[in-house]
Amino acid sequence: MEKRDELNERLTRVGSGTPMGNFFRRFWLPAAASTELTADGTPLRLRILGEDLVAFRDSQNRVGFLGAFCPHRGVPLFFGRNDDSGLRCAYHGIKFDVEGRCVDVPNVPQTSSLERIKERLCTKSYPSREAGGLVWIYMGPREAGTPELPDMPWVRLPADHVHVSRWLQRSNWLQGFEGEIDSSHLTFAHGIKSSEGKPYDVFMHDGAPSIEIRETATGFIQGARRNYRGQYYWRVGSWILPMWSIAAPFDPGRDLHGRAWVPIDDEHTITFAYRYQNQALTAETRESIEMGLGFPPRMRKAAFEFSDGAIIDTFLPTAAKENDYLLDRNLQREQKHSGIFGVNDEDRGLQENMRRHPGRKGTVDRSLENLLSSDVAIVAARRKLSQLVQDSQEGKAPRIQQTQSTLMGAAGILTPIGNFDELLGSFPELSGAPLV
Ligand code: FES
Ligand SMILES: [Fe+2]
Repeated sequence: MEKRDELNERLTRVGSGTPMGNFFRRFWLPAAASTELTADGTPLRLRILGEDLVAFRDSQNRVGFLGAFCPHRGVPLFFGRNDDSGLRCAYHGIKFDVEGRCVDVPNVPQTSSLERIKERLCTKSYPSREAGGLVWIYMGPREAGTPELPDMPWVRLPADHVHVSRWLQRSNWLQGFEGEIDSSHLTFAHGIKSSEGKPYDVFMHDGAPSIEIRETATGFIQGARRNYRGQYYWRVGSWILPMWSIAAPFDPGRDLHGRAWVPIDDEHTITFAYRYQNQALTAETRESIEMGLGFPPRMRKAAFEFSDGAIIDTFLPTAAKENDYLLDRNLQREQKHSGIFGVNDEDRGLQENMRRHPGRKGTVDRSLENLLSSDVAIVAARRKLSQLVQDSQEGKAPRIQQTQSTLMGAAGILTPIGNFDELLGSFPELSGAPLV
């Protein structure tokens, strides 16, 4: 019991200096959609890995991530003026560039000591990148330079080929991520009563998939095999460290997609979703994605206040704790096992309300779990993360190269093949190369 508690602590605490927090800081993390920041526009309040930050896009289109509070007397830089290549604090006018350098201190005499004062007022900043329609942040050590962005196929596509979104999940990152690699819940949490003739039918005939894992350099590839009308339906998906998924489309021929869970702090998460095609997405496609049936959920842009008073700019799902996720008992009786409208609403509703660990607001008590054989992927992920986190604490972990050749793919396949290795051999796009 104690061991599980230790594991829970190790994998769910993400603040500065924690083992998992240090591990997350070895990767570029998505912070926001590129479209959320306009040149000289409104800054964004963010909290990532427990650190309060402000993001802004300057006059030259560069994105800066700075500590949220002015180093002079602690006013939020969010209230500042963003113009002429910097963010100027609203209180006394001190100005910072995207790298956190103090470039103007207008409220003291402009004497020879000014340069020293500016140096003293330099503020925390983190490097940014833009790719795949997202702004990325790197919060780790920089002595050896920054790592590469994870080279998932969509990250290199033009922004109009990709739909990206993000929203608030009020739970620890791990229980969101664990839902993503948990294949047996699909038949139940997302199940529908009459699936005959519908693409989802392949999930509804066998609620007890046989699950296999093959470790990869960047996580694992998982195959969940369900019996389906004399053949097998394989749902194959990949985990890309530390918290990305590449998921099979729910309907054959649908766009490829996946999600990521970026910890806000120990008890809150931003879920990112991406979906892409090898062509520009039409307005209709974007509209249908945004209807909320899959990812993202129905949501609105809004500020969210934490219990400690800090505020972030985020997207709040319409179906939430306060309204029981709009659970409709008639819908539950007649059509859907959950009675809840969208796939993410279903996941989030269940995950945000799991039995809390004493003293934690959004983290499940894993010491009271009874794991089953269907949880094999979750156990494997915990074990791998725990090992990598420990190696990285001891300075033993290699830099993880998330290159094209190490990433795996995803697909839903109906086939007579029953053996996972044979399946991987027959579909080379699933193994050793990304699926495009
Ligand atoms: S608190 Fe920001 S300039 Fe004084
Ligand atoms: Fe789910």
